[in-house]
Amino acid sequence: MPNPPTTESLDARIAAAVQTVRQPRPKRVRPIVVIGAVGIVRAAHLPAYEKAGFPVISLMDQDGDKAASLAAERRIQHACGSIAEAVRFAPHDAIFDVAVPASQLVHILPQLPDRVTVLIQKPMGETLQEARVIRDLCRSKGFTAAVNFSLRYSPNNLAVAALASSGLLGEIHDIEVQTSTYTPWHLWTFLATSPRLEILYHSIHYFDLIRSWLGNPKSVYARTVKNPHTSNLAATKTIAILDYGDSKRVFIATNHNHNFGPERQHSFVQWEGLKGGARITMGVNLDYPKGKTDTAEYAERGSDAPRWRDIPVSGNNFPDAFMGTMGALQCFAEGSISTLPSHFEDAFQTMALVEALYRSSELPGEPLPLD
Ligand SMILES: NC(=O)c1ccc[n+]([C@@H]2O[C@H](COP(=O)([O-])OP(=O)(O)OC[C@H]3O[C@@H](n4cnc5c(N)ncnc54)[C@H](O)[C@@H]3O)[C@@H](O)[C@H]2O)c1
Repeated sequence: MPNPPTTESLDARIAAAVQTVRQPRPKRVRPIVVIGAVGIVRAAHLPAYEKAGFPVISLMDQDGDKAASLAAERRIQHACGSIAEAVRFAPHDAIFDVAVPASQLVHILPQLPDRVTVLIQKPMGETLQEARVIRDLCRSKGFTAAVNFSLRYSPNNLAVAALASSGLLGEIHDIEVQTSTYTPWHLWTFLATSPRLEILYHSIHYFDLIRSWLGNPKSVYARTVKNPHTSNLAATKTIAILDYGDSKRVFIATNHNHNFGPERQHSFVQWEGLKGGARITMGVNLDYPKGKTDTAEYAERGSDAPRWRDIPVSGNNFPDAFMGTMGALQCFAEGSISTLPSHFEDAFQTMALVEALYRSSELPGEPLPLD
């Protein structure tokens, strides 16, 4: 048996691994036209693009006043209230960054010119049927398009992925995601009437992230239920098991109405591998949208005295991950990377997983054999 690595050598291996973490960046940045100009655009898209030096040249919103006021606040040269005007204004190499409620995608995408590059906010439609329409539109119009699954590019997830690539986790056999927090759903007026809520608009990030680590599960079990304090909304609490066979455990548990102060609130992803474990906290969920600082930790398996080590993380999900989704799309469009993790074809599979979860939640469980 080889000796376990010394503390120094393990720390050095961790440092060497996380040093490789970089958000993808194109050789030539392209102008961005943003469609939808409030919540997430103000909180994450624009700060990320400013930080990355990606030029935003136009803001469009169906409410032209909102677009104009956010454009003035961020010194963006052009604002408008119609897609037609945004399209007229866009130079031939513009990236269209569409950040509107999912129900609007099927109306907006047909109005964009053929063969343009598009970043589509998640989710990719409100149902799998809509996702299929969006996928077919992207194909027939020849779009180079990605869906903004930003958690994949969260710096703390990238740090854990770097540890995994350097062999520090070994084969992953356990992933759990737990979020117990207070989410201010009222910020999104469109959610008040959305027939699907928690899995489609929030946990979809977790399901997509797990796919990025383990691929598609064989099948799923899920229950998504309403919260009595927000009985006007669709289900906002979820428990789901993803079936990856007999020797992997993967589950997600979310409760968005844990409104008893911050002490017991938590939001994390935890991986266990044959060689080590890792955990990231998702600070943005703990004080949305201001957020708390994201963290990452690692523990080696089999050490005499295993302990959790803090892993350096180069930023937070908001806004840094949004540099990644936009940067990767631009790299792919210019050909400097050959695969695009959040390509619409891959995102469609995350939508299929979401659909399976909602279907599972409708099915009865096993009754107790009381007779
Ligand atoms: N990736 C992430 O982490 C993340 C986080 C939050 C929200 N989102 C997604 O971003 C999308 C928007 O969320 P938000 O928080 O910004 O919502 P929001 O309600 O604050 O803003 C949406 C904006 O879209 C505009 N809009 C609606 N329909 C339009 C149309 N047909 N044409 C032009 N503008 C239109 C509205 O006027 C509004 O200003 C949602 O799909 C949500 O899932 C993603």
